[in-house]
Amino acid sequence: MKIVTVIGARPQFIKAATVSRALRLMPGLREILVHTGQHYDRNMSDIFFDELEIPRPDIHLGIGSGSHGAQTGQMLEAIERTILKHDPQWVLVYGDTNSTLAGALAAAKLNVAIAHVEAGLRSFNRAMPEEVNRVLTDHVSNLLFAPTKTAVENLSHEGIDKRRVMRVGDVMFDAALFYAKKAAKMSKILARLALEPGSYVLATIHRAENTDDATRLRAIFDALEKLSREVHVVVPIHPRTRKALSKLGWRAGKGLRLIDPVGYLDMVMLEKHARVIATDSGGVQKEAFFYRVPCVTLRTETEWVELVEAGWNTLAPPTDSARLYRRLRRILINFRRPRSSPALYGTGDASVRIARHLHNR
Ligand code: UD1
Ligand code: UDP
Repeated sequence: MKIVTVIGARPQFIKAATVSRALRLMPGLREILVHTGQHYDRNMSDIFFDELEIPRPDIHLGIGSGSHGAQTGQMLEAIERTILKHDPQWVLVYGDTNSTLAGALAAAKLNVAIAHVEAGLRSFNRAMPEEVNRVLTDHVSNLLFAPTKTAVENLSHEGIDKRRVMRVGDVMFDAALFYAKKAAKMSKILARLALEPGSYVLATIHRAENTDDATRLRAIFDALEKLSREVHVVVPIHPRTRKALSKLGWRAGKGLRLIDPVGYLDMVMLEKHARVIATDSGGVQKEAFFYRVPCVTLRTETEWVELVEAGWNTLAPPTDSARLYRRLRRILINFRRPRSSPALYGTGDASVRIARHLHNR
């Protein structure tokens, strides 16, 4: 059996790491890994292949950045050529990026079966490019691997045949377990940044709704800047956000530590030992919970609603810097750890279950 896997953006390298490992243990199964090139800086791409020991992509399409239409269109054309050449039984896609949609659409048009990892997530905000990508991908997929109960329910409400939906857990939880020891052994980030465990706030920002809106971007960074006068604030900064801040003419004061994006092993250590995490990332919200660190989500809504219900995550739409600062400070000082921490994302075997389902088809 041949599977073409399409990845291209940072979180997909991390998600594919554990699934690819499991797939390659299946007898008679051959995976052809295709990197669209959506992310291309060394610290947004190659570093993950090096440190997570992900198999090197068999094919690199080198598409790069562009407007949504241009980027997705170029990927679609190139992925179609790849599928025609390799004639796989399955095309496997992850998450909700333009690489996901291009992979799914190319396969759907060629009548090749599609498997979608992280199916069923919804923000119910169609202004998000990711929401459009998810909905379309789910509706053309033949096998939908849902990470949570809510995701299964979302798919059911949209009329997707439940025989196609498998609740397997979250592959990012598998990765968190798999790389925990390696991160603790290899990462020197806390020493490099002279940070004491539990003494700092970690923040990541990259969502279009925050970077492309000057009011929200300014509100976030002004609030973080103010907070950094009282506590260390570390921000591994996505290239999109760096560019947006520079366009805005915003300059960090001395306290705020804007650093280049870090590899996964360093990120794990930064997350695990943070006192609070503030983020608009999907993956980072969940990782905060894996390490039982309180999270403030800098958005109006989240797809990972169970984290808010469980008390580990708070939504803080970043519309006003003074208000955001007060909320961050309150959580920093007054966070009450929820009594229970339910197993929301499975038992760490999502990747193996995905590989088995695909192998047995
Ligand atoms: C993409 C995904 C988003 C995901 C995020 C993960 C879409 C629509 N968005 O957002 O869902 O959460 O990846 O990080 O697919 N850039 C660089 N170097 C790089 C990559 C990007 O400089 O290696 C800059 C470019 O200026 C580019 C911009 O970042 O135009 C945005 O990159 P893009 O891949 O289009 O979207 P992300 O914001 O990264
Ligand atoms: N991540 C990383 N280095 C960083 C920032 C994030 O390794 O500097 C990891 C993070 O631990 C998580 C994933 O990237 O596993 C999340 O990706 P991102 O926030 O870019 O995208 P999203 O999850 O929002 O789609």
